[in-house]
Amino acid sequence: MRDIVLEWLDPGDPRMTEVHALRHEVLFAPFGIPRDDRWDDEGADRLHIAAFRDGKLVGYANMLLEPDGTGHVRQVSVLPELQGGGVGSALMTGIEDEARRRGIALLTLNARTTAEGFNTRIGWRTVSDVFPFGRTGVPHVRMEKRIG
Ligand SMILES: CC(C)(COP(=O)(O)OP(=O)(O)OC[C@H]1O[C@@H](n2cnc3c(N)ncnc32)[C@H](O)[C@@H]1OP(=O)(O)O)[C@@H](O)C(=O)NCCC(=O)NCCS
Repeated sequence: MRDIVLEWLDPGDPRMTEVHALRHEVLFAPFGIPRDDRWDDEGADRLHIAAFRDGKLVGYANMLLEPDGTGHVRQVSVLPELQGGGVGSALMTGIEDEARRRGIALLTLNARTTAEGFNTRIGWRTVSDVFPFGRTGVPHVRMEKRIG
């Protein structure tokens, strides 16, 4: 998407406060889950990518570097009013580029079934049946993308 700037953020970056609010608004508030900013973001094995437009945070995702050499993508969140405008795919391209740079050949994620179509469109394949997952318990599927 034009005008979108991607940036990898350190978990101590003050802009992570905006990230906390975005993740809550997009991923948990719709299910009535109270905000809890204990996101477990610290650690060299977790990388945080943010999308900005005009300096304002509009999207976020993170990648966990797994001990087996794969990358696990989590918490892909786009500001509701900008969903469908290319921010999510820009974030996923940023993650893939970084993963390739690190020699990662396989990415995995657990997708809400409502987001399965988005991931399929950008080259992911579903490798599980539907299962309830995480704090929301909403239906998810396991997906993979081979990038190496
Ligand atoms: C799912 C999400 C991350 C996608 O990001 P986005 O910025 O809205 O997606 P994009 O605009 O980059 O979409 C890329 C393509 O996928 C399509 N797409 C987007 N969301 C889709 C969906 N839920 N189902 C099917 N296709 C979808 C778009 O139409 C677009 O197609 P095009 O290239 O032909 O125009 C975003 O909508 C979001 O934050 N949703 C709520 C939270 C969520 O479900 N996160 C994922 C948790 S696993």
